[in-house]
Amino acid sequence: MKKITKVLALVIIALIGLVLSGCKQKDVNELEVIKKRGKLIVGTSPDYPPYEFIDIDTGEVIGFDIEIAKEIAKDLGVELEIKEMAFSGLLAALTTGNVDIVLAGMTPTPERQLSVDFSDIYYTAVQALIVHKDNQDVITSLADLAGKTIGVQKGTIQAEIAAEIEGATVRELGKITDLVMELKFKNVDALIVELPVAESYVANNNDLFLTSITFDEVDGGSAVAVKKNSPELLAEINKTLKRLMDENLIDKFVTDATNKVNADEE
Ligand code: ARG
Repeated sequence: MKKITKVLALVIIALIGLVLSGCKQKDVNELEVIKKRGKLIVGTSPDYPPYEFIDIDTGEVIGFDIEIAKEIAKDLGVELEIKEMAFSGLLAALTTGNVDIVLAGMTPTPERQLSVDFSDIYYTAVQALIVHKDNQDVITSLADLAGKTIGVQKGTIQAEIAAEIEGATVRELGKITDLVMELKFKNVDALIVELPVAESYVANNNDLFLTSITFDEVDGGSAVAVKKNSPELLAEINKTLKRLMDENLIDKFVTDATNKVNADEE
């Protein structure tokens, strides 16, 4: 009798295990969802040249992140759709399933890693500070920022960096393009953005100046964000990124996008 109870108990445990593993298998496989749909939906905030910006001729979103997105879609054998939104809304769009992945020069921070997963880093930049040309001799060191107003994009690592600067006031806005206007009108004294972005805006606005102040201890590495627990999709993305890095294509995409930014200026 005792033995039978034991066997019964084991059978029940095995059955529970089966049911549970069955439930697990029902977990959504993001990779399959994308392939079935035949389209990869990428979220981005196109105010960050040369990463992503609007082509003034066509109104289309272009940039080196977009070239990488095209390669990911190509390797998956699906079409690509780009959804534009404010940077601070990107992770919510990802977790609610409004987009499949995010490419937006996004840095994988521990805080963000609580809600999403990240690919390998595909590009790294230092943080730079731009000011109005009239202030190029006024703001030449970190100490000069005391009592000044620093503009940063909402929800970015730059907002965190600015918050650490002694004596400075931080102004957070949703779009970098608006921050650039604020700087041109001297409503803010400086902006912090990743160096390639600083160079792009300075190249296109001759009233702006790139200071030699950098915050290089803060790594602005960019990675692709995906929904948590999508190992199949993540592996495919890392495969594409590795191919692009091995073929030196990311550097080429960065150069091409930067040339495009500079050509738009003329
Ligand atoms: N790398 C910074 C961050 O992750 C800024 C990214 C801003 N990207 C954009 N497309 N506006 O917080």
